[in-house]
Amino acid sequence: MARKGKVTVVGSGFYGSTTALRLAEYDIFETVVLTDIVEGKPEGIALDINQSRSIEGFETKVIGQSTTAEGAGYEAIAGSDVVVITAGLPRKPGMSRMDLIGVNAGIVRGVAENVAKHAPGAVVIVVSNPLDEMTALAQIATKFPHNRVMGQAGMLDTARFTHFVAEKLNVPISSVATLTLGSHGETMVPVPSRCTVSGKPLKDLLSQEEIAGLVDRTRNGGAEIVALLKTGSAYYAPSAAAARMAKAVIEDSGAVMPVCAWVEGQYGISGVYLGVEAAIGREGVKKVVETELEQGERDALLVAAEAVRAKQNDVKDL
Ligand code: LAC
Repeated sequence: MARKGKVTVVGSGFYGSTTALRLAEYDIFETVVLTDIVEGKPEGIALDINQSRSIEGFETKVIGQSTTAEGAGYEAIAGSDVVVITAGLPRKPGMSRMDLIGVNAGIVRGVAENVAKHAPGAVVIVVSNPLDEMTALAQIATKFPHNRVMGQAGMLDTARFTHFVAEKLNVPISSVATLTLGSHGETMVPVPSRCTVSGKPLKDLLSQEEIAGLVDRTRNGGAEIVALLKTGSAYYAPSAAAARMAKAVIEDSGAVMPVCAWVEGQYGISGVYLGVEAAIGREGVKKVVETELEQGERDALLVAAEAVRAKQNDVKDL
């Protein structure tokens, strides 16, 4: 199999290292670069992953590289086709994602500036929280065209919703299709009208109250895990989502997935990063794909757009 391209994961915490592992195990990239400001950590994790290659049977090489906040070490990311930014602090129990905005804005801005300098042609996938705001900030700091900067959230929230539906109905996960749009936070918009089980509408299988319960659990899906873990936040499902987005980019697949993308007129909304469905390929977001929504869902999406717009207007000064 021909392997091609280079993907960088910035941040070697659980989210970053798991993403690097998934990307390496796909065995489609020439190189996976993993960085961190903790000296030795990315090098150690890369060595460990590389030593699993003969067991798991993949050829992709992982390069670990420590960096400094000033940008030393970033030469290693030169020529990256995709950069996944996981840098930043995770939540502690009781915190909202928005509580991280001050500290993570400084970290994400610094990383984004170094990415722009050393990998000016990359597609950037942001996963740092608060997600919608950090995605907007990464675009401002890289000065990349909007289509080349997107955020990971919708895939994760949708996957959580799908899991809860499958569990509730005790059906195979593969029979369930769901969708979430909006923000990766308070104004997340799960879209029950787009949810099916073996092609049947979810509302024919569950009561309104039952669906509302699952929607609620989805909206709090991240916090539920933070509360259980006590230190750190989720990373298995989040890294699966981020890695799939990077895969769609390098394969130029045009796969349509819910992501945080720059919206320019769709749903009557403009000039904001928001969770929507988009076709993903070599240029990042190829196209935002508008889906049919019920009136209540459309209204909720408009509320989400205005909520994230207000916050995104603040981030340029952070
Ligand atoms: C979550 C974090 C990663 O939702 O935002 O788990």
